Amino acid sequence: KLVNGFKLMEYAKRNNLVLPAFNTTNLEMTYAIADGLMRANLPGYIQISSNNLRLSNPGIIAEIAADAVKKSETPIGLHLDHGKSFEDVKACIDAGFTSIMIDASHLPFEENVKECRRAADYCHFYGIPVEAELGALRGKEEDIVNEAECKTDPDMVAEFVEKTGCDTLAVSVGNVHGLCLNPQIDIPLLEKINQISKVPLVLHGGSGIPKEVIWEAKKHGLIKINYGSDLRKEFVKTFGQAYEENHNEYDVIHLSIEAVEEVSRKAQELVTMINEH
Ligand code: G3H
Ligand code: ZN
Repeated sequence: KLVNGFKLMEYAKRNNLVLPAFNTTNLEMTYAIADGLMRANLPGYIQISSNNLRLSNPGIIAEIAADAVKKSETPIGLHLDHGKSFEDVKACIDAGFTSIMIDASHLPFEENVKECRRAADYCHFYGIPVEAELGALRGKEEDIVNEAECKTDPDMVAEFVEKTGCDTLAVSVGNVHGLCLNPQIDIPLLEKINQISKVPLVLHGGSGIPKEVIWEAKKHGLIKINYGSDLRKEFVKTFGQAYEENHNEYDVIHLSIEAVEEVSRKAQELVTMINEH
């Protein structure tokens, strides 16, 4: 059974764990992520972004995810990533998602607050936690490329958390969306934000962040870290290599099985790595 987001975070805190949130796109990725977490026997989230919901609707993804975690002995939640509208938030709650992000970070402060408050009030009625974002990340988030970074302003954190009622805070501290090796994570800024924030912190753009940096961030309130590109790369690689070797390759079934295995191994490796220390 998919685990409620509040319970999942309680479990993580009790066991001193960071929760990975792995982006899914389709049926194969969803099973692969659940499988990776189960192999590692560590908790985490399957997550899907609002953008990706255009491809796979919330109800279908929730059913696949629920089936994928059926045999799991480790807690796994289903999270809406970068929720772009109140309609998406509602649709995901209705579908049985157990955790929600509303991302209005591109809007001016007061509007961001208003959107998050509305989502938080709705989600809390159903007992589901909400992640909100303050600041903006550089990089490629689905099909949107953002060149300008806007680091989270610590002076706005207390007011933002208070007014939105959010349960976790996604921060911009040098983390980058997309395949970026060794982004320069501003640990002193993270530490400062953590001292002010009443809620735990989330890092987006997990792909490419060295493990030592994650272990350091763990000391400063990090509860969740998002991984998208790393898993997608594994998935695509399998098909790309097969095609390069043979332009007449069309064995989708065996390649999909192989791709699921690659993604599962990567998810297992990442969840183990972040919790090694
Ligand atoms: O919300 C999704 C993540 O922030 C993915 O970032 O593709 O850099 O791992 P990533
Ligand atoms: Zn993200």
